[in-house]
Parts: sequence; C-alpha cells; structure tokens
Amino acid sequence: MRIDPAEIGLPDLYQWMVSTITPRPIGWVSSISATGLTNLAPFSFFQGVTPNPPTLLFSVANNRHGEKKDTIRNIEAVPEFVVNVVSYDLREAMNRSSALLPYGESEFGVAGVTPIASEKVRPPRVAESPVSFECKLHQIVRVGDGPLAGNVVFGTILLIHVNERVLDSAGKVDPAKLDTIGRIGASSYVRTTDRFELDRP
Ligand SMILES: Cc1cc2nc3c(=O)[nH]c(=O)nc-3n(C[C@H](O)[C@H](O)[C@H](O)COP(=O)(O)O)c2cc1C
Repeated sequence: MRIDPAEIGLPDLYQWMVSTITPRPIGWVSSISATGLTNLAPFSFFQGVTPNPPTLLFSVANNRHGEKKDTIRNIEAVPEFVVNVVSYDLREAMNRSSALLPYGESEFGVAGVTPIASEKVRPPRVAESPVSFECKLHQIVRVGDGPLAGNVVFGTILLIHVNERVLDSAGKVDPAKLDTIGRIGASSYVRTTDRFELDRP
C-alpha cells in the first residue's frame, strides 16, 4: 500500500500519521493568558530537542476552522509554559483536559488536578504530575496555514521538578515508578510496563 498525502483528505492523513508514528509521549502543557487565566492541554506531538541549550518542543495544530488553539494564543501573549509529564494514574485527568472549553475557562478544574505555583514562570504546574519542565518560549515555527497546520513550540527549559517518589535508591528515575503513558492512535494508549534493554554498539 502507498499513501500519497496529496491524494487523501486531512482527517485521513492525520489518522495515518497518529497510528504509525507511535508511541508518542504526552506533554501536558500549562499556559496562562495576559489576564492571568490558566490553561491546560495535552499534546502528543512532543519531544526533547537538545540539552544544549536545554530545549523541548511540541506541536499545536490549528483547529479545523484554521484558528489557533488557546495554548498558542496564551504563549504568544505570555511566552512561558510548563510541560507536565503524564503518568498512568493521570490518564483520565489528562484526557478530560483535552475538552474544548471557551477561551479563558481553565482545564485545571475540569481535569480535577491542582495548580501549584511555578518558580521561574507565570503558568502554574500540575502538582500531581511526577515531572514538570518550566520553560520560556524559544521560538514558534509555523508549518503551513489553515486547518490542522502546525505551530511548533520550542521551549527553553529553565527548571525541572522531579517528584522523589519516582526515583530509585541511586537517585535515578525508575521507569516503573514514573509509569508514563504514550499515545498510539486517536484514542489508543500504551503503558511503559513492558521494557527491554539494548546495549549501544
Ligand atoms: C493524548 C492527546 C494528545 C493530543 N495531542 C495533540 C497534539 O499533539 N497537537 C494538537 O494540536 N492537539 C492535540 N490534542 C488535542 C488537544 O489537547 C485539544 O485540541 C485541546 O483542546 C487544546 O487545548 P487548548 O485549546 O486549550 O490549547 C491531543 C489530545 C489528547 C487527548
């Protein structure tokens, strides 16, 4: 089978991409409006970029009307955000926070998680999240325009919070305790319970 992106519609192409580029980690991004209204939303087009300078990225698609989502509107107004890591126990809360809410209505309440003040940025972080990255905006790269076009957000990591409950006795992250989830389609997910080791050649 061959798929030419030019020959299929955007929804189909999106489905092919999200069901084949797997598993994807989930960045749970808190942001804040110029008037101080908080926002929380999950993004699985999410990755680390480099430790030098410490940088991560996530990509926010325009909605199907071609409009920017609240996360982008906020980061354009207040160029700071927190990327919170999603563990298995937070899956339902994370999913609830993806609901479409009117601009300015906070997903913290809908998700049922606790906003806790960040140290270096204005948006709060998620208290229940095992790891949170406080970031300032490095750059937004627009990829295309119109419906589902991308707004790739590069963030410079200013501070990382790691809850000690996910550490082993040597002070390293224990993947079993971190218990992150990944997305493998529109509504399918994986846990990180089935692991294996490969030594680098
Ligand atoms: C697990 C998961 C992953 C998601 N990943 C993305 C993504 O990578 N990019 C995107 O634009 N939307 C993604 N979404 C949808 C957004 O979370 C959703 O559009 C949300 O309402 C955006 O919130 P905002 O308008 O407050 O920014 C994802 C949703 C879920 C549940």
